Parts: sequence; structure tokens; C-alpha cells
Amino acid sequence: MSNIVGYIGKRNALPIVIEALKRLEYRGCDSAGCAIIHDNKLQIYKKPGKIVDLERSLPEPNLCSGSVAIAHTRWATHGEPSEVNAHPQIDCYGKIAIVHNGIIENYIPLKKQLIELGHQFISDTDTEVIAHLIEQYRTSEPTIQEAIRVALSKVEGTYGLAILCEDEPDQIFAIRKGSPLIVGIGDNEHFIANDVSAIVIHTKRVFYLQDDELCILKGDYFEITNGFREKVKPQVSTVDWDISAIEKGPYKHFMLKEIFEQPISVDNAFRGRIDESSGNARLGGLKLTPQDISKIEQIHLVGCGTSYHAALIGKYMIEDFARIPVQVEFASEYRYRNPIIQDNTLIFVISQSGETADSLAALREAQSKGAKVYGITNVVGSSIARESNGGSYIHAGTEIGVASTKAFTSQITILFLLSILLGRQRNLSSIQGLEYIRELQRIPAKIESILQQSEYIREIAETIKDSHNAMYLGRGINYPVALEGALKLKEISYIHAEGYAAAEMKHGPIALIDKEMPVIAIATNDPLYDKIHNNLEEVYSRKARLITITNEGNTELENISERVIYLPSTLQNLQPLLTVIPLQLLAYYVADLKGLNVDQPRNLAKSVTVE
Ligand code: AGP
Repeated sequence: MSNIVGYIGKRNALPIVIEALKRLEYRGCDSAGCAIIHDNKLQIYKKPGKIVDLERSLPEPNLCSGSVAIAHTRWATHGEPSEVNAHPQIDCYGKIAIVHNGIIENYIPLKKQLIELGHQFISDTDTEVIAHLIEQYRTSEPTIQEAIRVALSKVEGTYGLAILCEDEPDQIFAIRKGSPLIVGIGDNEHFIANDVSAIVIHTKRVFYLQDDELCILKGDYFEITNGFREKVKPQVSTVDWDISAIEKGPYKHFMLKEIFEQPISVDNAFRGRIDESSGNARLGGLKLTPQDISKIEQIHLVGCGTSYHAALIGKYMIEDFARIPVQVEFASEYRYRNPIIQDNTLIFVISQSGETADSLAALREAQSKGAKVYGITNVVGSSIARESNGGSYIHAGTEIGVASTKAFTSQITILFLLSILLGRQRNLSSIQGLEYIRELQRIPAKIESILQQSEYIREIAETIKDSHNAMYLGRGINYPVALEGALKLKEISYIHAEGYAAAEMKHGPIALIDKEMPVIAIATNDPLYDKIHNNLEEVYSRKARLITITNEGNTELENISERVIYLPSTLQNLQPLLTVIPLQLLAYYVADLKGLNVDQPRNLAKSVTVE
């Protein structure tokens, strides 16, 4: 995922776009750049590394002042991170500057054709072809916006673009296809960004560009035309949160803040979606009638990474409450394996960002087969939210830490509500439904009580931070939680960790166990407790360093555990909302104790918008 910002208005543009970029740096950055019109001349500044490296390279403010600028951080897809590959990319004469988020699938043939026409390329990026295409058509087309449209008609792939032209020094051109672009409306000033958190400090009045819409931004004016060159009126909305939601506040890292926000974010996920009178859930965004629901014969849950783990948990919930078969798929596999989608199959794509390329492609693949696809997303107006046939926002608030935490528990909460909604259409009684809903309402307080153990969990992190490997074990609905705990540890502490179904250990992985191996095991009070207790005895007899998570009052595991973390009890299908919390904290403290960049781990981006 790359990031795009732009400003045009009455203020000095460069500090505004640099500051806006910094609010998106957490999403991944290996190079940064900007373009500004200074004294009617287009100036380009770019650097590999972080935004602060770019900032340090800028000239004195009086040499780079101006009222219109665009800027970009890149997370390399084509071409290694370098100054020449950083955006903005320019045309042969340096009069057109573009910043791009997305992928040009056919850039190689386009580049070849343009070189044959005499264009000089300087980068290895796919993006640069767009600058030269616009230059190529600038002479033949009556306006720059027409040249942009003709140029992009040659392009296959996805793009969110902001464009500056020296010949049109008082305008920004913005156009998108498949990558998000948001316009902020200020007082005689306008903003452009691929994520609203970059500009919310300046304005809460925004609109989302739709595919093929080209927007011309001036300080006191904007105009949007669609693919048919028809003027369109945007749907302006007001952002319902403020800048404090994307500030760390008293927390050392966004990830820690987001872990501690979970009592509130889980509450936000179910608030307004519960009907105690009927012991049912309300997910109005699905636009499904009771008749629609009663016809459902199969469900597909599709996602990547942590969202995939949430989907695995959803399978246990839905199959238990509604007795509907659930298929859980990696989006990257689903999109290519020609999935079998029968009538009365309900498909959900789960994605925090709503921009994950594989998940978006899986949605489109299922829709191409005539299926209705629903999104469970966090980012309002994201591509998956817009392209799905309906869905539910998880209302987790902006999640900035690359390692997903509060989004995960909010996704699970929505899936729990869905399992009740589906179950109540079948064999779940209103009494059962009410019991489950009432327990869900107790979860935020139970999460709060677990968070009070953070210092104890930090001490445990101290004991495993120098390990080279770790094993996470769980059974039943806690098996996907073990997978999630392992992912958290490896993605921010770089310690190799595996999640395993505890009973599977004897089929090979137990060979890995020795006194160096921390084994973090979830053994909560449920029908499988005795089974997993036996599994842990097996592991203990191989000298593993056992850290166990169990329920308050159960002291049986103390004699085989180096440390025991005690959790409040809850409904079996709600356990993941509690058992994941210590695993999130454990991963966080290990990474922090190792002095690593917790919010922006190496090689990772917050949203993987490329294949
Ligand atoms: C989770 O901690 C990771 N950041 C990653 O696995 C993430 O869950 C995955 O890329 C899916 O992202 P999405 O939910 O935005 O689609």
C-alpha cells in the first residue's frame, strides 16, 4: 500500500502534505516524495527511507513555498526502494508529476511503445509510464484532463492518482480506479488522500471518488466528471470521529492503545445490533429478510491473515448455533481456484482495511459467478465496503498498528452476532439467544479485567523474548486463536512461531519440543479441557517451557506451567474474545522489549493492496 496526499488552497502546501503523509506512514513506507508548484515551476523532492529523511532533504522554506502540492510514501512493488523509484514520477520534461497507489499490469508493453516514441525513462517503476502517457497525449488532446483520460484508457490495472502539471499551476487532478481516493473540503482549500486519517485534522467534510471519476481541485472550486465526461455531484459525508482517535495519547505505541481500546471497540461492534426482546441480533446492513436467511444452505468466509483467523472462529460459531456448513478460505486461494458457488450460498469477505487486493479480487470473483457477497469491514467507504452487496462495519475505529488487534475482536463480535441471527432462524430459541446476547454484553468488562494483568504478561514476555521459536496450542474454537497468537508474535517480534491444534502435536510437531521452546497453550474450561490437559502433559514431559491460559479457579495446570494466565469464564463461543487478549499483549511486550518498531514492523504494510 502506498499513500497519496495533496493540498491546494491559501496556505503553504508543503508542510501540510508532509504532515498528512506522516499520519499514514504506519501503513508502510520505504521511500517518500513530494511535488510543489513554486513560482509557477514544478519542483520535485524525493528520498528513500522514511518521511523524516525527505523532510531533511527539503530546501529552505522560501525556496519551496507554494499553494499546491502532492506527496507520496511508497511501499515498493515494482523497483527497489530508491530515490529514482520514489514518487512523484515525471514525464520527459519534468512538467507533469504524478503520485500513484495501485499496480499497472501492462506497464512493460506500454513502456516499450513509449520508448519507441522517444520517451526517456529513468525509473524501474510501473507508475512512470502514466506520466509519459499523459505527456504523449498532452499535445493531441485539447485539455490536460482529456490527455489524462486518454492516457489512462491505455492502462490496465488499478490506480489512485494525484497529478500536478506545470502548465496548470493552480490545479490538482485526481482520478481513481480500484484504489481509494478521498477529497476533503476545506474553507477555500481542498485536500486529497487515500485515507481520511491524513486530512481529518483539517476537515471532516469529505467525499469518496468513485472508479473512473476525475476530479479537478482548485482552492475555491472542484469539478468531478465520470467516465462519460458527465459532471457528477459528490456525496459529501462528515467524518464522525476526530483526530484524537489517531493519536497515541498516553500509550507508547498505537498497537498498545488499540489493545486497550478493545472493551470499547467490542461494545461498539455490538451496540445497536442486539434485540433482547427476541433474543436476536440485528445486522441491517445485510439487507436479508428472514426468508432469505432461512434459505441459506452454505456459507463461505473469506479473508487474509488475521481476518482469516477471525473467519475460522466464525465457522465454529455459525456451525454451532445455526448448523449451516461454513467453508473458510484464504482470499488468495479462493480467487484462483474457481470456487464452487451454489445457490443459497452466502459469502462474506472479511477485511479490516477493505482494500486487501486478494480479498477484493475474491469478492469480484464470487460476484462474477452471480453470488451476492457481503463485507465485514472497518474502513467506511473502502473498496470492499463499496463493491459488496451489503455488509457490516465493525466500528473498531481507525486501526493504525500494522498488527491487527481491536479489528480482530470486532470482527469476531460481528460473526458472533451473525451466528445468532442465523441460528435464531433455525433451532436457536429466544431464551438461548438472549442468554448468549447477555453474555456478549458482559465481554467488554471481562476484557477490561484481563487488561489489568498487562504488567504480569509483560513479565512473562521478559522470559521468552530471547527465544528463537515458539509454539501456540489450542483446541476447538481456541485453535484459530492459537494461530492468531502465533501470527502476532512473528509479525512484530520476528520470532518464528507456529499455531497448532493441540491434539496434532503427537503427529509430528512434538519432535520440535525441548527446554528452549516456549509453548503457549490455551486450556480454558470447555468440553475439550481434559483432552488439551493431556496434550499439555505430553508436551511438559518433553521439557517444554509451558505458559498456559486457563480460567480463574482452575489451578490444575500450575504444576506443569512456568506461568499461568487466568481469565474470567465465558460462553465457549465467546472465549476467543478473551483468550486472544493475553496473546496480543504478550506479542506486544516481546517486540517492545526487543526494541523493535512495533507499529511498523519490517517488510509489512497495514493494508496489502498488491497481490
Ligand atoms: C494482521 O496482524 C496483519 N496485519 C495482516 O495479516 C492482516 O490481517 C491481513 O493483511 C488482512 O488485512 P485486512 O483485514 O485489512 O484485509
